[in-house]
Amino acid sequence: MNGIAPVITVDGPSGVGKGTLCQWLATRLGWRLLDSGALYRLTALAAQRRCLPLDDESSVAAVAAELAVEFSAGTDGVLHITLDGEEVSTTIRSETAGNAASQVAALPQVRAALLQRQRDFRQRPGLIADGRDMGTVVFPDAQLKLFLIADTGERARRRHKQLSENDMDVSLAALEREIAERDARDVQRAAAPLTPAADATVLDTTAKSIAQVCEWAWRQARQRLQIPTNHRD
Ligand code: C5P
Repeated sequence: MNGIAPVITVDGPSGVGKGTLCQWLATRLGWRLLDSGALYRLTALAAQRRCLPLDDESSVAAVAAELAVEFSAGTDGVLHITLDGEEVSTTIRSETAGNAASQVAALPQVRAALLQRQRDFRQRPGLIADGRDMGTVVFPDAQLKLFLIADTGERARRRHKQLSENDMDVSLAALEREIAERDARDVQRAAAPLTPAADATVLDTTAKSIAQVCEWAWRQARQRLQIPTNHRD
């Protein structure tokens, strides 16, 4: 692989199972994980804390360029995220934070400010990159590009279950509406819109279990990265 670390990109809208799949692949391969959505969520949170309007492009981009963020895996295996030294892992997972993230993500200067930070995650032995534009913009030369899709109703149900488990109370109907709005914003924006790369392999996860999605991705990874069949089996 010419000395450069391999990357598997996993793109798609929210609620298709990207997060779970990426975590699984990263653990299985012993590779690093880039949660690019967290960077947009953190940018929005940092901007709001500085009382900046989310459409003030140059100011929000300046915040993105200087984000004081740290990602660390706790002994519990859970990813801990700190912003300006404060643990914000739960705060950034709310629907409000997701919506704010998708507003700042539509600003080209913000995307440009976060580009190199994302590319810096590419280190040996390899990287699993989770996002919307990993295969199209951030890592166009990735060894394997996966793109997950699923029905809006099913994605809202999955998200509802996840939020309920974390004691966050949102109605299913409101969630479905918000997901549809967020999708529309992500797909229609001019800068790095949500779309599969021409060389991505697409999977509809609507009727699939997590185990089936992981198995499918593992088959693709094995073929493309020539992982021996006895790899940690
Ligand atoms: O994946 P997650 O739900 O955390 O992403 C939050 C928002 O950040 C998305 O709705 C999208 O607008 C934006 N995003 C993006 N590009 C990425 C990752 C996330 O535009 N690579």
